[in-house]
Amino acid sequence: IAHFHESHDLTGKTALVTAGPTQEAIDPVRYIGNHSSGKMGVAIAENMAKRGAKVILIMGPSQIKTAHPSITTIPVTSAQEMYDAAVKEHHTTDICVFAAAVADYAPANPAKEKIKKSANELSIQLKKNIDIAASLGEQKSPDQFHVGFALETNHEEENALAKLKKKNFDFIVLNSMQDEGAGFKHDTNKITTYHKTGEKEASPLLSKVDIAALIVDNIVKGL
Ligand code: CTP
Ligand code: CA
Repeated sequence: IAHFHESHDLTGKTALVTAGPTQEAIDPVRYIGNHSSGKMGVAIAENMAKRGAKVILIMGPSQIKTAHPSITTIPVTSAQEMYDAAVKEHHTTDICVFAAAVADYAPANPAKEKIKKSANELSIQLKKNIDIAASLGEQKSPDQFHVGFALETNHEEENALAKLKKKNFDFIVLNSMQDEGAGFKHDTNKITTYHKTGEKEASPLLSKVDIAALIVDNIVKGL
């Protein structure tokens, strides 16, 4: 599975990758976030760049950085900012990989000043964020290729297949929650890919770099 030679099977292609978490402001000093490290998305961006693609990496707040000269990183904070950046670039892309852990909800009315501690209970009203992958899936042309991710704790296959269809993906990558060492915070991952053609493929536990190579192999095959 490891790639010891440089192949250039993505020369001339432009790819967009969303990666990392998003942060949704509660007030000027607090936010709703999640544990996404951004590792998986950056590994995919780097693999595609290595194979000759020009990559636009739209990245939520993360410690992970990349210095590859073919990758342009657009840092964003909220889901809305990630959507605005993605929509701007989408028409120029051949490939989109939606690896970001986008917050599903954001505070409806973020406070302008720091919220002071007072009552014993505090409720924050949330509103649903825009679905970046679904929205760009609607604008997708037949020569564009979209890849999504899913992390499920139950009815994994059924939920992944529903997302594949709903968001107009060419394939979806299901992250396994079952295995020790897979997913958030880890350097390894284990996936199953579900293709719109009906194919399904499971991987062993691999480093995120090798998982990225496997995902990009599937993109190249499907283009
Ligand atoms: N996604 C996105 N924008 C959102 C939410 C999700 O682009 N606002 C993308 C993710 O990057 C991923 C895919 O959609 O590629 C599936 O994300 P997931 O959170 O698993 O699905 P949801 O549709 O948000 O459903 P739920 O969280 O309820 O399972
Ligand atoms: Ca979600």
